[in-house]
Amino acid sequence: MLSKEMEAALNAQIEKEGFASAQYLAMASWAENRGFEGTAQFLYRQSDEERMHMLKLFHYVNDAGGAAISPGVAIPRKDFESFRELFEVILAQEQGVSERINALVSLATEQKDHTTHNFLQWYVAEQLEEESLFRSILDKLKIIGNDGGALYMLDKDLQGNGANKGSKTAP
Ligand code: FEO
Repeated sequence: MLSKEMEAALNAQIEKEGFASAQYLAMASWAENRGFEGTAQFLYRQSDEERMHMLKLFHYVNDAGGAAISPGVAIPRKDFESFRELFEVILAQEQGVSERINALVSLATEQKDHTTHNFLQWYVAEQLEEESLFRSILDKLKIIGNDGGALYMLDKDLQGNGANKGSKTAP
């Protein structure tokens, strides 16, 4: 049985994952409208993946005796200065999610809630994978600079990138 504090903390995380899904969707629209087709497809998949993260938490809260709350949708950011800034915002968002997952793990440890601690390990691994993916994209963008041809190739690359990510670890 979840403590009230843990239930509230998990519901707060449900809201964050829901917001991440909305933010990726807004980013997909930004990319699509600027001709970054591959990136747009990649971001649509990320949006779906975040919704899956949200649902996995949602089912867990109900299964563990709490009451999952369907979050309201905060308005995500819809404009970005550049392709590179978009990925900087993504990395910062994912780092923020990782911090909150770590805080949830600490709370589970404090409360000796081994079930929730065990459940959260999937998110710990997922965040490591996501942060690493976005760091590597930003590294490529630093090398590319303003080379339009290289940017075009990166966009093509992203079309296939992450296509199966998540599905192999999906619930
Ligand atoms: Fe579910 Fe990428 O945070």
